[in-house]
Amino acid sequence: MGGGGMRKRVKRMSEIVKIFDTTLRDGEQSPGATMNIAEKVRIAQQLEKLNVDIIEAGFPISSEGDFEAVKAISQAIRRSEVAALARANPQDVDRAWEAIKEAKFPRIHTFISTSDIHLKHQLKKTKEEVIKIAAQSVGRSKRYTPNVEFSAMDATRSDIKFLSAVIEAAIQAGATTINIPDTVGYAIPSEFGELIRTLKQNVKGIGKVTLSIHCHNDLGLAVANSLSAIQNGVRQVECTVNGIGERAGNASLEEIVMAIRTRKDLFRFHTRINPKHLFTTSRLVSKITGMVVQPNKAIVGANAFAHESGIHQDGILKEKLTYEIMTPQTVGIPKTSLILGKLSGRHAFRERLKDLGYELSGEDLEKAFKRFKQLADKKRDIYDEDIESIVVEEILRMPKRFKLDYLNVIAGNITVPTATVKMEVDGKLIQEAGFGDGPVDAVFKTIKKITRTRSKLLQFAINAITGGTEAQGEVTVRLEERGYTVIGQGADTDVLVASAKAYINALNKMEFKKQKLVGM
Ligand code: KIV
Ligand code: ZN
Repeated sequence: MGGGGMRKRVKRMSEIVKIFDTTLRDGEQSPGATMNIAEKVRIAQQLEKLNVDIIEAGFPISSEGDFEAVKAISQAIRRSEVAALARANPQDVDRAWEAIKEAKFPRIHTFISTSDIHLKHQLKKTKEEVIKIAAQSVGRSKRYTPNVEFSAMDATRSDIKFLSAVIEAAIQAGATTINIPDTVGYAIPSEFGELIRTLKQNVKGIGKVTLSIHCHNDLGLAVANSLSAIQNGVRQVECTVNGIGERAGNASLEEIVMAIRTRKDLFRFHTRINPKHLFTTSRLVSKITGMVVQPNKAIVGANAFAHESGIHQDGILKEKLTYEIMTPQTVGIPKTSLILGKLSGRHAFRERLKDLGYELSGEDLEKAFKRFKQLADKKRDIYDEDIESIVVEEILRMPKRFKLDYLNVIAGNITVPTATVKMEVDGKLIQEAGFGDGPVDAVFKTIKKITRTRSKLLQFAINAITGGTEAQGEVTVRLEERGYTVIGQGADTDVLVASAKAYINALNKMEFKKQKLVGM
């Protein structure tokens, strides 16, 4: 593969590969990544701006919160299709439709398992029953919308004859998209490509539907499997921003999009994604979910375009192509982070917000601007990262049951760390004081006393949002209660205030999470 040869344009018709984003559904199944309705709508709007074809907004029957979020997204999104997930039963399908019926382009996504392991241990159903249920569920969905997707869960560990029979039944019942999930991330690329080829050859009617894949990353092969499937005839790929999702996550949207784009000499395909929004989208999802992006993450990691060795730096200075296969600007990484400060006015602040992808007006803009001014009084330079954290904390987070009102901590090398905390709990002000092994421990114990909560602290991490000693500290906490995990985040120039905010954010998320009725 010579460099020159690789870059030659091959004149062939380029086909569209649809991007089906499931950050708000499978992505939210990442341990701790619970989002509230406002946060989900914000991410959906960003996905629409990115130009994703289909947004899977949630699993409406799983909880009242999920139902309301899917409904709000259906009302807010006008260009992308909005999909709702439903197990193959009438209640799930009816609830899914109820949630998406106001969408401009609604889609019901119904699924049932097809592997022997799942049939025997989880579903406790015969193969004949599963074929019948799949067809019935697609049929019921068709009564509501012509746009119906059917998924054969655990397809890659299923008997191919049976898998083909289920898919055939779903197509006959009217499914317009057939999805082949690698639910447990078991497949390898050559095998997955072969599976797609075999299905395309053997399943009656498969030529008239869109074939889709959904790969999990348990062996680190989700993106490779997705690309192999695309090369073998798949025209819809299911993925998530930053690759978040159940266990090791899903195939990463940004990696798939940029692989197809960068290697257009190999792929006869393109996506509708505008890559300029990839970086902002990644940052937004990371901020909202609390799932930190690893520095060496492809495309959007902090080091993805950093050249460390002398030889590489020398090459880059002479000619970027020596060590760069795509430019950071293509994926929207700004050349320099614009700095705002104490003297910046409302107009400059609003313009910067717009560049970062936030269109705020009225009360929201005023709230964010007030917080910006408070921060600028404490900190000379305000960077993009500071502005993002203001928006996420002030506008999107919307504290529900618990809110911090006042915090005072006494600590030092000879005093017993003591915290006095005043909080709003369901609108009522409560004040308490408490001791701890250290100042953070004192703060957390006092908050626990006020909120009467029992969550166990699994992880506490602190990061500087930007450089310098005056930087805001960003605290991330992971809490666990009754088997549920949540991640909370808080930022402030005072790390104890940031810790209290992160802890309270996590407690609010836990309250939200407890409403979930059905797990997956
Ligand atoms: O991983 C999986 O099989 C799923 C289905 C619901 C598509 O998420
Ligand atoms: Zn999945």
